[in-house]
Amino acid sequence: MSNGTSPLASAAADRRTFLQASAIAGGSLLALAPAVHAAGSDELKVGLIGCGGRGSGAAVNAVRAGPGIKLWAMGDMFADRLEAHRQSLQKEIGDRMDVPESRCFLGFNAYRHVIDSGVDVVCLATPPGFRPLHLEAAVEAGKHVFCEKPVAVDAPGVRQVLATSAKAKDKGLSIVSGFCWRYDQGMRETFQRLADGAIGRITAMQCSYNTGMLWMHKRRPEWSDMEWQLRNWLYFTWLSGDHNVEQHIHSLDKMAWAMGDQYPVKAVGLGGRQARTSPDYGHIFDHHAVVYEFANGVRCYSYCRQQPGCANDVTDFYFGSQGTAMTHGANGTAWIKGESSWQYTPAMSRRAIDKYQFEHNVLFKSIRDRQAHNDGESMAKSTLMGILGRMATYTGQSITWEMALNSKEDLTPPKMEMGSLPTPPVAIPGQTKFV
Ligand SMILES: NC(=O)c1ccc[n+]([C@@H]2O[C@H](COP(=O)([O-])OP(=O)(O)OC[C@H]3O[C@@H](n4cnc5c(N)ncnc54)[C@H](O)[C@@H]3O)[C@@H](O)[C@H]2O)c1
Repeated sequence: MSNGTSPLASAAADRRTFLQASAIAGGSLLALAPAVHAAGSDELKVGLIGCGGRGSGAAVNAVRAGPGIKLWAMGDMFADRLEAHRQSLQKEIGDRMDVPESRCFLGFNAYRHVIDSGVDVVCLATPPGFRPLHLEAAVEAGKHVFCEKPVAVDAPGVRQVLATSAKAKDKGLSIVSGFCWRYDQGMRETFQRLADGAIGRITAMQCSYNTGMLWMHKRRPEWSDMEWQLRNWLYFTWLSGDHNVEQHIHSLDKMAWAMGDQYPVKAVGLGGRQARTSPDYGHIFDHHAVVYEFANGVRCYSYCRQQPGCANDVTDFYFGSQGTAMTHGANGTAWIKGESSWQYTPAMSRRAIDKYQFEHNVLFKSIRDRQAHNDGESMAKSTLMGILGRMATYTGQSITWEMALNSKEDLTPPKMEMGSLPTPPVAIPGQTKFV
C-alpha cells in the first residue's frame, strides 16, 4: 500500500483557490463526452475512495451495474480499514476486482492517487467533510462520480459542490448522488403521485429521524486527536456536519422533493446535547427540532434524535388540501389517504430494483449512453437544508437560506495531518454566533 509522497494539500487552501479560480467553460455535453466511454463493451474502471461500510456496498453495486465494470483502485485513510474491506470485497466480487497492493492508497492524499490510477469512475464514500475536495478533484480529472450524501458540512463546501457540479455538466461528466430514496421505486411512484396532485396542494409537512445510538470507537492511547476524530467522524461537525446533516438529511431531501425541489427560505430551531454527553461523542448535539418555512408559507416540522431508550420514529408526513401521505424513512413503505388513496410496500413490487443498485445502474447507463446525469444541484441544496437547520439550532437564531448559503463558516481544520486537534466547544443557543 502506498502513502503517496507528494506533500499533503490543505483542503482549506484547495477550497479557497478553487473558488477564486473557478471559471466554468461552456460547451455541449455530447461534444465533450469522454471518447473512451463509447456505448458497448469498453471496460470501465472504478476507484473507491473511503473503504467503509457504504463505500464497499457502493463498489459492489458499481461492478454489478453491467458488464465490463471492474473495481480497480481503493483509497482510505487507514490501512486496517482498507485491508478489511479489500478482503471482504475479494470474497464478494473477486472476479470483478483487480486491486493489487500497488493500487491501494492510504492517508489524506489517497484520493488523488485513486483518481490518477487510470480509473473512469470514482465512488466517494469518506466522511462528508472531504466530499467537496474529492468531488472537485475527480471532476477536474475528468472522472464520472458516485457521490454519497451528504455532500458537504459547511456553506463553503456547498458552494464548492455547486461550482463543481456545473463544471461536470459542461464536461459531460455524470454525478449520481447517494440520496438513495430518489432511486427507490416505491418512493419515485409516491412522489410522482404527489406531483400529480394526489393530496392536492401541500399545506404542511413533518419529518422525523428519531433513533437510538450509533457506533462509537473508544479512544486508544496511540491515537492522536486527528486519528481519534477521523475514526469517530460521526461526532465532529467538520467531518459529519452533525447528525441532522449526516442522517436526517434523507428526510429533509424528501421534504424538498415533495415541494418540487423548492427549498425553504428560513429556519428556526432548538436542540442540544442531553443524553449523549460524554466527550467520547465529540461535540455534536443529540437532538434537533427545526421549523423550516418555504416561500409559499408551507412549514416543515423536522425532528431528529439519537438518544437511547426513547421512542424511535423515522417517518415523513405530507399534509395536503385533499389528503395526507406518509413515507417511511427506514422500511420504504408509503401511503396516500384521500381522494386518491394508495399504498406501497416493497414486497408489492417483486421486480423493484434495490435503490442502492439502481443508483449505479443509472450512473453506468448514463456513461455508456453518453447522456450525462447530474444530481449536483439537488444534492448540494438538500445538504444545505441540513446545514441551515444546524445553524438555526446551534445559534438559536432565525436563519434565512441566503444567510446559510453565503455563510463564511469554514469548518476545515487548519492542518490536514495527524496530530493535535482540539474538540470544538458544544454550541450553546443564544451564545453561539452565526458566522
Ligand atoms: N445513502 C445511504 O443510505 C448511506 C448509508 C450509510 C452511509 N452513508 C454515507 O456514506 C459515507 C460513508 O459512511 P460509512 O457508513 O461507510 O462510514 P465508514 O466509517 O464505515 O467509512 C468511511 C471510511 O472513510 C475513510 N476515510 C476517512 N477519511 C478519509 C479520507 N480523507 N480519504 C480516504 N478515506 C477516508 C475511513 O477510514 C472509513 O474507512 C457518509 O457520508 C455517510 O453519510 C450513506
